[in-house]
Amino acid sequence: MTDDVSRNERIKEASDYLRGTLAEGLREEVTGAIVEDDQQLVKFHGMYLQDDRDLRPERSRKKMEKAFAFMIRVRVPGGVLTPAQWLALDEVARDYGNGTMKLTTRQTVQLHGIIKSNLKATMKKIDAAVLDSIAACGDVNRNVMCNPNPHLSRAHAETLAMARKISDDLLPRTPAYREIWLDGEKIAGGEDEVVEPIYGKTYLPRKFKIVMAVPPSNDVDIFAHDLGFIAIVDEAGAVAGYNVTVGGGMGMTHGETDTYPRTAEVMGYCGPSDVLAVAEAVVTVQRDWGDRLNRKHARLKYTIEDRGLEAFKAEVEKRAGVLLQPAKPFAFTSTGDSYGWSAGDNGRSHLTLYVQNGRLFPPQMTALRKLAQEHDGDLRITPNQHLIVANIPAERQNAVHWAMKEAGLLAPWSGLRRNSMACVALPTCGLALAESERYLPDLITALDDKLAAYALLADDIVIRMTGCPNGCARPYLAEIGLVGKGPGRYNLYLGAAFDGSRLSKLYAEDLDHAGIVAALEPIFKAYAADRQKGERFGNFAIRAGFVAATGNGRDFHNNVRLAKVAAA
Ligand code: HEM
Ligand code: SF4
Repeated sequence: MTDDVSRNERIKEASDYLRGTLAEGLREEVTGAIVEDDQQLVKFHGMYLQDDRDLRPERSRKKMEKAFAFMIRVRVPGGVLTPAQWLALDEVARDYGNGTMKLTTRQTVQLHGIIKSNLKATMKKIDAAVLDSIAACGDVNRNVMCNPNPHLSRAHAETLAMARKISDDLLPRTPAYREIWLDGEKIAGGEDEVVEPIYGKTYLPRKFKIVMAVPPSNDVDIFAHDLGFIAIVDEAGAVAGYNVTVGGGMGMTHGETDTYPRTAEVMGYCGPSDVLAVAEAVVTVQRDWGDRLNRKHARLKYTIEDRGLEAFKAEVEKRAGVLLQPAKPFAFTSTGDSYGWSAGDNGRSHLTLYVQNGRLFPPQMTALRKLAQEHDGDLRITPNQHLIVANIPAERQNAVHWAMKEAGLLAPWSGLRRNSMACVALPTCGLALAESERYLPDLITALDDKLAAYALLADDIVIRMTGCPNGCARPYLAEIGLVGKGPGRYNLYLGAAFDGSRLSKLYAEDLDHAGIVAALEPIFKAYAADRQKGERFGNFAIRAGFVAATGNGRDFHNNVRLAKVAAA
């Protein structure tokens, strides 16, 4: 491979299908880390090397190595776990992790704080629970998301089954995962087409994310993802086919206007039997057309901005051998979860819990462990970092309700808190510029004070925070988005649509806590006074002129009103 590719491309190429020197690195006892190239490769196995950033100053004073540990992200297509799988993850988190679990915005579980010497034991436990972490991170198709709401019954079941099929179809085939983590036998390399028929030796130019939505819920945030399928349900309640969306993505870099979040566009419609061929074709076109020189320009959203949707669609149709039909009508109402009880079949019910920022601390883990030990339904992680306990028989509903209430897992009153999400950020995420999940709850308390003054406390308003502009909690699709800029400083974005279909706009920069509250209070006041019937906060922010409503993709940064605010 020539010099004109990014460093990651060379690492992949030389890795012998994601092996690198990981096996040797795990045996190396003088450091808790692994070498740099392997740090890139280990992501494809579902792990990040991290260090506890809270401990950096002290360890540096003592001339000690950073407090290295790994984060493992499990792959859970559609977010559905059996009670036995839940118990296995809970045990791993307590025995080898930092004693907490993070339910993520992409329907998986992250376990933090696993030191190198415990990695293999952890991976074996995960394997024994019939779970894995392959392709949970890295330049491949990641966890496939799907509406986890069990009472959507038939359409839901069909869509979930399809999500699992897509997930299986696009899994890396390299035997490296079994070899390295599960002491599998070393299988000699072969030709690209044999080892990785879809990805080839260098996999994709960048991460790739697929979701499936069942309207009217857009809980998966379909427009934030590279590839999406919107189920179109027929009169009998079965899935007739899917609208196909392409080219969504969140990440950007502060100050670099050629990087931007983008909402996906609807490309057409296909029948259920064409879904796999279309998904594979989208992936391989991006494999071949995506930018391998500049990783900041390598997501599918940039390929589509540069080549145009029509050219991309034509190539996908050619490779899939499928002519996409015109998209069918659909309507989304919200990106949120419906908390509380809902009815299932045969007298059983489902309970959607509220897990603040997806973080389960020991008391909540204990309550859920007890629940899982007696539960014969399943546990479903929502795309909003929450958890549905599905199929609870009538005789257990009372006990479950009170146990969950006592553990603080029922939804709060505050409309802002009910609709909040935060990424991990400090202390584990090496990319964080500011706090996120450790700070957002306090900010909401302060904002709720102001909202209460305008009788808006119970109103559903979507707020999301991330510690950096990569956008792991999809802040650019929140009605109030806060993106870390530096320690204690955030950029404030406003104006996204409640149903997840429109990005927000930058409203103010570099705000500290007092600055955020001061910037939002007058907007809350105006909203309470001037909103039209049923008008959402994001829509109001635009109509009332707080932010401009221009465009998608590269137009994201084109906010005429910010200039006026700054000049005023
Ligand atoms: C350039 C872009 C991105 C980079 C480099 C990146 C990197 C990371 C890293 C290092 C973590 C681990 C943090 C920790 O657990 O300590 C993380 C977490 C996570 N990321 Fe990203 N990320 C990016 C964009 C995104 C986007 C756009 C999404 C979703 C649409 C996403 C979804 C997640 C999720 C679900 C987590 C787990 C924690 C949570 O639920 O917030 N990431 N990311
Ligand atoms: S948004 Fe940034 S700070 Fe937050 S988890 Fe993602 S990479 Fe880390």
